[in-house]
Amino acid sequence: MTTLAEFLTRADAIARDGTALIRAAVTRDALDHARVGLLGRKQGQLTSLMAMLGSLPAEDRRAAGAAVNATKQTLELTLTSAEAALAPAPDASRPDDLTMPGRDAWKGAVHPVSLVIDEISGIFRELGFTIALGPEAETEWYNFGALNFPPDHPAMEAHDTLYLSDDTLLRTHTSPVQVRTLQSHTPPIRILCPGNVYRRDFFDATHAPSFMQIEGLCIDEGVSFVDLKATLSEFVRRFYSDAARVRLRPSFFPFVEPGAEMDVEVDLNDGKGTRWVEILGCGMVHPNVLDAAGIDSEKYSGWAFGMGPARIAMSRHKLPDIRLLYDSDVRFLEQFAQ
Ligand code: PHE
Repeated sequence: MTTLAEFLTRADAIARDGTALIRAAVTRDALDHARVGLLGRKQGQLTSLMAMLGSLPAEDRRAAGAAVNATKQTLELTLTSAEAALAPAPDASRPDDLTMPGRDAWKGAVHPVSLVIDEISGIFRELGFTIALGPEAETEWYNFGALNFPPDHPAMEAHDTLYLSDDTLLRTHTSPVQVRTLQSHTPPIRILCPGNVYRRDFFDATHAPSFMQIEGLCIDEGVSFVDLKATLSEFVRRFYSDAARVRLRPSFFPFVEPGAEMDVEVDLNDGKGTRWVEILGCGMVHPNVLDAAGIDSEKYSGWAFGMGPARIAMSRHKLPDIRLLYDSDVRFLEQFAQ
């Protein structure tokens, strides 16, 4: 024999524990399991509670029945909202759309300046050049002195060069690698040196305070200006096109004699036709540079060049502003993804 008080306590417990069970169910399976356990017609907890109705005194059955209904309603409401919170069930009548395009994985890409450096390195590798590297923090001697800069040269002024200490600076060009290579190797020497250089320049459409350079150096017995012109012309033909024209203009750098700048004739597709674009400085290595590095300038001669791959990337891709290459705007950079 059950009392009404016991019955109501049991109904309360089913409502309270059942609600907690439903709320804890985070999958459809767990929710179905809770529903069967609570409201299932054979084994459900509410069904066994109802079976106890008959053992109550007749006058208590009305109140007990109301408690059963209230509990049932609570559980059903909780189940309905828990179901709504779950992801929708797969609809068998509407199969997955197999023609839908997949979500693209993020693909990295090589920076356009790096692509140009790789391409240039590949061309010079075929011409017999090896990659050489040197430090970005250099001494005044390697950056200037050994390269035949007179001690009072204006390029050494603090407003042109970034000094780290009295004697150490961020290299302003890759030419100090010429000196380091000449010191550590005996000719024949053919090296290509890509690397960062630093200058106290403003950031504008054609300048950056830090940029990449590629240095080239070729030293052997009997090397002449003809080799310089032939090698650089061959490079331009391979990099731009067979039809590309080059011109050399006399120019001055303390570490070469004679010195020149080389221009390439390119069409930037801006309706203004072809024009000459400067891509590098070059010249015959000055005997003082060879001597300072311990190479016999009576026996050996050679040439060197220094080019700016960012400027070359601009001419290749017809870019109006060098800052596009430094802004790291993915919308710009991803156009060069291969
Ligand atoms: N170092 C020079 C510069 O930065 C370029 C150069 C290199 C010129 C080698 C001649 C020979 O402007």
